[in-house]
Amino acid sequence: MDGKTQVVEAIKKALPDVNQEDIESKIERPKDNKNGDYAFPTFFLAKIKHQAPQMIAADLVKEIDQSGFENVVVAGPYINFFLNKAQIAAGILSDIITDPENYGNANLGNGGNVPIDMSSPNIAKPMSMGHLRSTVIGNSLANILTKVNYNPIKINHLGDWGTQFGKLMAAYKMWGSEEEVKADPINTLQKYYVRFHQEDKENPALDDDARAWFRKLEDGDEEATYLWKWFRSESLKLFMKIYDLLGIDFDSYNGEAFYNDKMDEVVQMLEDKGLLQESKGAEIVDLEKYNLNPALIKKTDGATLYITRDLAAAIYRKRTYNFVQSLYVVGNEQQNHFKQLKAVLKEMGFDWSDDIHHIPFGLITQGGRKLSTREGRVILLENVLDDAINLARKQIAEKNPDLKNADEVAKQVGVGAVVFHDLKNERLNNFDFNLEEVVRFEGETGPYVQYANARAQSILRKAGNPDLTNVNMELGDADAWEVIKMLGQFGETVQRASREYEPSVIAKYSLQLAKGFNQYYAHTKILVDDDEKLARLALVTAVSDVLKSSLSLLGVQAPDEM
Ligand code: ARG
Repeated sequence: MDGKTQVVEAIKKALPDVNQEDIESKIERPKDNKNGDYAFPTFFLAKIKHQAPQMIAADLVKEIDQSGFENVVVAGPYINFFLNKAQIAAGILSDIITDPENYGNANLGNGGNVPIDMSSPNIAKPMSMGHLRSTVIGNSLANILTKVNYNPIKINHLGDWGTQFGKLMAAYKMWGSEEEVKADPINTLQKYYVRFHQEDKENPALDDDARAWFRKLEDGDEEATYLWKWFRSESLKLFMKIYDLLGIDFDSYNGEAFYNDKMDEVVQMLEDKGLLQESKGAEIVDLEKYNLNPALIKKTDGATLYITRDLAAAIYRKRTYNFVQSLYVVGNEQQNHFKQLKAVLKEMGFDWSDDIHHIPFGLITQGGRKLSTREGRVILLENVLDDAINLARKQIAEKNPDLKNADEVAKQVGVGAVVFHDLKNERLNNFDFNLEEVVRFEGETGPYVQYANARAQSILRKAGNPDLTNVNMELGDADAWEVIKMLGQFGETVQRASREYEPSVIAKYSLQLAKGFNQYYAHTKILVDDDEKLARLALVTAVSDVLKSSLSLLGVQAPDEM
């Protein structure tokens, strides 16, 4: 039972005639803890009891069973409750230790399906830092939603169709060679792509060429299809390496091409509902009443567009998963696209368009500058992860030269640092990327949290990993209470993160808990042999359990030694 419930129950017993919800809604948390952990104001009872609040409080306190509290006192019209911290502490610790995996679980979702459109890099272009954000935010949201009993479905909506293939094919036919591509697929394809964009500034005829190739692809031309498949599979191989490194998998890789044969139906539906209009030869849906630009459904040359595919995808997902919510973890710059998507679905009469949520995020910059594929200014994700791992390895070699599985730990720390850095920032904020800062062992970093857990594990090893299931876990001292109070807030933290679709809530919580534990560790001799030693070890175990759970919600590993 948490503290507030305990207070409600005690008052309820003393006031059987008063509605429980009324009691609950009146309870306050005093700003100054001199006034207790909870306070019950009696003003609202004055009318019912025809007495002054001070009198009511003075009488009521005599009726309240005080045995479960440290103290219950009258302060004018208020009754102040001081919780029995040691008892509550023991309750929290034993909840964690008896079932660490499920501690903090809640049932907000009743198992409902939630497709999460995430990562979705574009084939034949490198996966850049921008896609990293979508990947790790989407993955963390999937973990968080699982903990509150939704059923997430991770969908990689690969950008495997579109005019960039026309450009790439045109470039490949002009300057490319098969051997060159085979030797180093992504860098080579990327090189072609960048060169195409440089040269087409001078020579606009290149664009016509690219359009013609894309047209061929849409018409099922053999050579175009062959090249498409080849470029796609080479790109995917590289993406998979990155996903493996991140420890992230997907339930579906249905990308844009998957909807090639599903768009006619959408266009037909729009037509049947009288929503399609002609505008300069193109087909559009007018969205003026939503204050949005018209949605471009079919171009002048008949080619379908990004939004047409997304309409088909949204309908497909509703039919396939009957979702309760459908999330799209995509950069903030696509905000209008998703507003249009929802508006068109609404116009089509699909009420479930209200369950579609765009989860936008900000940009990663470097030295304050935007990254850009087109101009060849990219940070390659694969390089970032490798560099982070090397940096972690160097630091581990200094701190812990005898560590046995140093390579594996370096991977967990390096990759974890990059992921954590991304998630600790509120989704919508832009942030600057500086590798040295990201992999530091001190400050607000992933390695700092991992290190706090490793420290806890090392204490437990030194103590010989005793069985703690049946020990008296009452710890009354103020230092311990600060940490245990935080442990008790894990569940509400997870729920908040899920409601706000905000992994940073968990990341910030884990930093705070790690910091609180380090302070406790600095002030307390944990391993000294006295009556409370086992209770202190229970606290250390619980901290480690909750740090690990927090990191795992973020998709970050927690090595026992580092
Ligand atoms: N491939 C797109 C990009 O890199 C993101 C796709 C997002 N998902 C979607 N269903 N539109 O910009």
